[in-house]
Amino acid sequence: DAGKSGYDHYMLKEINEQPHALRECLRGRPRELEASIAIDELEGLKQPERVHFVSCGTSYHASRYGAKLFREQGIQTTTFLASEYDVDSIPIDEETLVVGVTQSGETADTLRALRAANSVGAETLAVTNVVGCSAARETDYVMYIRAGPEIGVAATKTFASQQVALAMLSRDLSGRCSSAFIEALRALPDQVQSILDTSHAAAVADEYVDADAYFFIGRGFDAPVALEGALKMKEITYKHAEGFPAGELKHGPLALVTERTPVFAMISGNSNIERMVGNVREVESRGAPVVAVTDVPGRIENHADHVLEIPETHGLFAPILANIQLQLVSYWVANRLGRSIDKPRNLAKSVTVE
Ligand code: G6P
Repeated sequence: DAGKSGYDHYMLKEINEQPHALRECLRGRPRELEASIAIDELEGLKQPERVHFVSCGTSYHASRYGAKLFREQGIQTTTFLASEYDVDSIPIDEETLVVGVTQSGETADTLRALRAANSVGAETLAVTNVVGCSAARETDYVMYIRAGPEIGVAATKTFASQQVALAMLSRDLSGRCSSAFIEALRALPDQVQSILDTSHAAAVADEYVDADAYFFIGRGFDAPVALEGALKMKEITYKHAEGFPAGELKHGPLALVTERTPVFAMISGNSNIERMVGNVREVESRGAPVVAVTDVPGRIENHADHVLEIPETHGLFAPILANIQLQLVSYWVANRLGRSIDKPRNLAKSVTVE
């Protein structure tokens, strides 16, 4: 228990370590004067023709977010679940950079995908947290996210650090960055701290602890965080949760929405506010409670039962901040239900079987 520094769970400790983790991830990488990003360990890595992300679980959600940032820079990028990566059926060659995003660097599916990429001559890069892990040893390049050890099985601080690492990587590879981007990156640790200091996620959790299921929706850059919010909720509360891009609501999930299924809606400056408000109205009219996670509360509060506010940021970074609120909601629901938060049943921190 000594390692928990007074917190009841490692997970809560690690959620609270995020400002520090992000400062470490950023250390020495953004260059204010040149308005550029330099990742020293990637010296020599050029902008590739195309990028494939291979990853699992939470790392897959970080990859989905990262891929959007890469594409926004004009880099042709595809995400694959590592267990579904099949080099025989997709275009892959020496001009392809295959990026394995893996906290532990030991996930069997991700290692298999990276080995397959190596075998066909692609360049490989591991984005990982663990120095000297298998993924780092077996790839051409490695970028460390520097989040520090994560004990809780459910990934928290490593997800935020992966998001920030991939944001920097997108600019390092494209060679195009802006002062505004760097300024916003630098502001993130303090903004995360302000969420941790003021969040009323615990009260929201109290209100919905008996819900039948939880839904998470977002558009664009927010969509991967909707997936991650649902995964976190499932992992530690054992309750049904689903996340999806908000536009898909009407193609099926809406049939499950009732007054007993709270819907968490990410609505950030970058997420097409009008259409998100439309989606929120769809669930509101079915009686579902709405929790808006937003940096534009004025645009949504009339349609939300609760607002979990995040500070204003560069639109691209709102999903990093929104996720902190979602982590806290899941933690407090699991806590009220008395779950085994740090070691959920049937799950392992690192899965070394395919
Ligand atoms: C396990 C963990 C997840 C993690 C996933 C991928 O399922 O419980 O938290 O996201 O593996 O792990 P990796 O170490 O490759 O990021």
